[in-house]
Amino acid sequence: MGKIIEIENLTWKYSNTDKPALDNVSLDIEENSFIGVCGPNEAGKTSLVSCIKGLIPNNFMGIYQGEVKLFGKDIKTLNTKELAEYVGFVFADPESQFTSMSVEEELAFGMENLGLDRKEIGKRIEWVSEITGLEDLLDKSPYDISGGQKQRVAIASVLSMQPKIVILDEPTSMLDPLGKDSIFEICERMKNELNMTIIMVEHTIDRLARLSDKMILLNNGKIKKYAEPNIFFDDIDEIIELGLNPPAPIVFLDKLKKSGLYNGDIKTKLEDVIEIARDIYKENIKKEDLLCNQKQ
Ligand SMILES: Nc1ncnc2c1ncn2[C@@H]1O[C@H](COP(=O)(O)OP(=O)(O)O)[C@@H](O)[C@H]1O
Ligand SMILES: [Mg+2]
Repeated sequence: MGKIIEIENLTWKYSNTDKPALDNVSLDIEENSFIGVCGPNEAGKTSLVSCIKGLIPNNFMGIYQGEVKLFGKDIKTLNTKELAEYVGFVFADPESQFTSMSVEEELAFGMENLGLDRKEIGKRIEWVSEITGLEDLLDKSPYDISGGQKQRVAIASVLSMQPKIVILDEPTSMLDPLGKDSIFEICERMKNELNMTIIMVEHTIDRLARLSDKMILLNNGKIKKYAEPNIFFDDIDEIIELGLNPPAPIVFLDKLKKSGLYNGDIKTKLEDVIEIARDIYKENIKKEDLLCNQKQ
């Protein structure tokens, strides 16, 4: 796997602000990986992903230092069409992206802009509506469906353009629990079935951790951690201090570690943690039995 995104010493300050939103950020992202981004409000998450989409500096005023490269090319040298082909962006508010009166037209819109022919557009609509479960909604107005369905339309229209990189910036933040579930399910299918690099900004860290190959923790415009989940959660104190909730199984393992009952690696899967807890329990029962036998 090669590096698809390379960020080097990136500092970005919106005009009329004193503090940079991104402060000397360097990071590489491997092709076809799933990257989870978390951090408190105002940490710089949206600014970071906006730099990867080229929205910064193209659509914002400010001071830009450093470099963002996609496929080895400086993002500043890419034109709008190339950027649209390389990177798709799903916002928290799906309606902000809608332009059409039916779901089907909405899905076709981006592909028409890419200049695809009718046949290819038809094929891709069939493909994305299956992945996102929109088959029965194609005739509906994108404004008259549930929040979760709206977000699925937004994701489908991005996927239909088959970008190499898909960014989702808090796509579940405006949805009810059912809507959230459906988006995470689609993200899982995207991860398993599509050759795309996915970057997801998300508050629900436990679900993000289950999907992520690597996770980024941002605070004050700086990268605090960038690692695979088992290393990322090795020290959860910093994550908790920033007001974020690490996954419950990891908090439990951390407690076992701190009380001296466990000193192995951090596991992110609930099944693994249950197994560890069972072993510790059995071992301690054995020790107690031995002690009782010695006393008798
Ligand atoms: N359009 C903007 N103009 C000025 N400052 C902004 C703008 N957008 C974000 N900021 C500031 O940049 C910093 C990072 O914000 P943002 O990237 O939106 O963080 P996050 O997505 O983690 O909440 C914050 O201090 C925020 O107030
Ligand atoms: Mg944000």
